[in-house]
Amino acid sequence: MDKSMIIGVIGAGTMGSGIAQVAAQAGHTCFLYDTRPDSVDKALTGMAKAMDKLVEKGKFTAEEAAAIKARIKPAKDLKDLSDCVLVIEAIIEDLVVKKKLFADLEAIVGAETVLATNTSSLSVTAIAAACNKPERVIGLHFFNPAPILPLVEVVPGLQTAHGSVSACTDLMRAWGKVPVVCKDTPGFIVNRVARPFYGESIRIFEEGIADMRTIDRAMKEIGGFKMGPFELMDLIGNDINFTVTRTVWESFFFDPRYKPSFTQQRQVEAGWLGKKTGRGYYAYDSDGNSGTPGTAELDAVLCRTIVDRVLVMLINEAVDALHLRVATREDIELAMTKGVNYPKGLLKWADETGLPNVLKRLEKLQSVYGEDRYRPSPLLRRMVETGSTFY
Ligand SMILES: NC(=O)c1ccc[n+]([C@@H]2O[C@H](COP(=O)([O-])OP(=O)(O)OC[C@H]3O[C@@H](n4cnc5c(N)ncnc54)[C@H](O)[C@@H]3O)[C@@H](O)[C@H]2O)c1
Repeated sequence: MDKSMIIGVIGAGTMGSGIAQVAAQAGHTCFLYDTRPDSVDKALTGMAKAMDKLVEKGKFTAEEAAAIKARIKPAKDLKDLSDCVLVIEAIIEDLVVKKKLFADLEAIVGAETVLATNTSSLSVTAIAAACNKPERVIGLHFFNPAPILPLVEVVPGLQTAHGSVSACTDLMRAWGKVPVVCKDTPGFIVNRVARPFYGESIRIFEEGIADMRTIDRAMKEIGGFKMGPFELMDLIGNDINFTVTRTVWESFFFDPRYKPSFTQQRQVEAGWLGKKTGRGYYAYDSDGNSGTPGTAELDAVLCRTIVDRVLVMLINEAVDALHLRVATREDIELAMTKGVNYPKGLLKWADETGLPNVLKRLEKLQSVYGEDRYRPSPLLRRMVETGSTFY
């Protein structure tokens, strides 16, 4: 990696400040710009605190931390980014505003500068269309917190030059990240494949099959997930999680597989956003605790039913993403294990569960509910017919 490369980051909020820190830690000079100068000041203060903690933990020496902090330069004007080789945009999630920014940027940077967007839900292709050289635009989707979570989804738009994809994946590796390449489709890999973790768990709750605590405990204690779906939604924020679900559903032209739930919508309407507001699916005290998860013996049959139902839906999403060439088998597995910490890759899990079992459970759900939501992926059917496995 050429450390002399100057990087620009636009938007000094949650994501932009984290991305700037990652770039500076990797040795780059990084210009950080925000329309609100106080956002940049706040980001620099936050980053300084984060660096101090890393020094305490022994990750960096005090000298290294000071050098990293010095490499992040507040930009007063967009024009300060004129020498950047790569600019990563992490501003408000609004297509019109992002398109204007990309068009403005193109008039400032050099002809070879790569322009990346950290959008979670907009089309990279649509953002690129604002540029005279749309081939220079790419998606680099980091996860929150960017300095900690290793996954980066590298998303070429329809117009993106091939060379930018390999250059960006190489650069992300050099930054210590785990890049995966995925098609410019709604939710990319993680935000698409993970939908049933929340949606199907809510359905199970809505039908009165189990309460939230039981579902959370089943998914952790039997499923091996680090967090249960309800506690995770409370941590992410029900407003954010609901918006992602709704955006993915709308972007898929209202495919019932991604349909949002009234249960979560009501949480948002009540202002019960989760841990950050002290109330979500659970109530939190001032230390952020929501009481004990309970130690009562779980009903093993019930818990198996819960885990199996959510799991086959997750597997079906992963299989369908592969079917539709959203990403390779390896990248789908990496995305779910490195981006959202799943205990294992869903396609590996599919093999272990047995593809005929996965298909049978989905068909049963589809026949009981009569809903397209449960339709098995054509790839799953084909693989069962031919007796094949993913590994
Ligand atoms: N928060 C997450 O978990 C997360 C994860 C992955 C991707 N993203 C994406 O990253 C982007 C930023 O999200 P965030 O959570 O950091 O938002 P944020 O609200 O924390 O920060 C956005 C910043 O952009 C600034 N801004 C707005 N318009 C601007 C403009 N035209 N020019 C320069 N600065 C401008 C704002 O002042 C603000 O400081 C969004 O596209 C979001 O979808 C967010």
